[in-house]
Amino acid sequence: MRRPIIAGNWKMNKTASEGVALVEALKPLVADANCDVVVCVPAINIPAISEACKGSNIHVGAENMHWAASGAYTGEISAEMLQEYGVEYVIVGHSERRQYFGETDETVNKRTLAVLAAGMTPIVCVGEKLEERENGTTNEVLDRQLTVGLAGVEDVKKVVIAYEPVWAIGTGRTATDEQAEETIAYIRKKIGELFCPRCAENTRIQYGGSMNAKNCKGLMAQANIDGGLIGGASLKAPDFSAIVHFDR
Ligand code: PGA
Repeated sequence: MRRPIIAGNWKMNKTASEGVALVEALKPLVADANCDVVVCVPAINIPAISEACKGSNIHVGAENMHWAASGAYTGEISAEMLQEYGVEYVIVGHSERRQYFGETDETVNKRTLAVLAAGMTPIVCVGEKLEERENGTTNEVLDRQLTVGLAGVEDVKKVVIAYEPVWAIGTGRTATDEQAEETIAYIRKKIGELFCPRCAENTRIQYGGSMNAKNCKGLMAQANIDGGLIGGASLKAPDFSAIVHFDR
C-alpha cells in the first residue's frame, strides 16, 4: 500500500510572515488528512515555517538543495542546514530549475543521492515539454530523466517521483486523468526495469501541473497516481485543504 502524499510547492511566493499565516490557516483544515501533507517553501522561510508546523501533521520541505556537505558554493544550501530546522523533503530537478538555472539530469542525480544520504526524502521531478509530447518523445525523455536522475539509488521507494508535464505547469492546462495515468504507469514500469518490479510497486509517484480542488479527485482516483505536487493551488489554504481531502 502506497500512502498518498500531497505536497505544496510555494516556489518564490510568500514572505516568512505570510507563509506562517498560511500554515496557521492550514493546520486545522488538514489535521484529519489521510495522506502525508508537505509544504515545500522558500529556503529563507524554513525556520519560521518549521516552527509554525511543530506539533501538526504538516511536514516541511525545501525547494532545492546543494549536493556538497559544505564549501565554497556561494548562495547554496546544504542538507545539514535544512535538517537543523527539521526539513524532511527536498524537491529535486523541478522543471523551472532545469529551464532557468541550468539543472541537468546529472545534477538531479547528485542532489537526489545527497538528499537520500542525509536521510531526507527527495521529490524528484520529471516530465516532458510540449514539443516532446507533440513529437512523440515523451517516453524517451522520461527514460533519460529516470535512468540518469536515479542512478546509484539503493532503495528507490525512499524517493518520491513527481511527474510534471511542463506544458501543464502554471498554465491551467492539466493533463487529462487518462494522460496522467498512462504516463505515470509508464514511469512505474520503467522504475521496475531500472530497479525491480516490487520496488516500483512501493514507490510513490505524484502528478503535478495545474492540479486543483476541482480536478484532484479524478486524478487521485487513478490506480498509479499516489499524490500531487501543487504550485498555484497550494498558496490558498482552502484550495490546498480541498486537495488534501481528495478522498472525501
Ligand atoms: P502548478 O505548479 O500547480 O502551479 O501548475 C506545479 C509545480 O510546478 O510543481
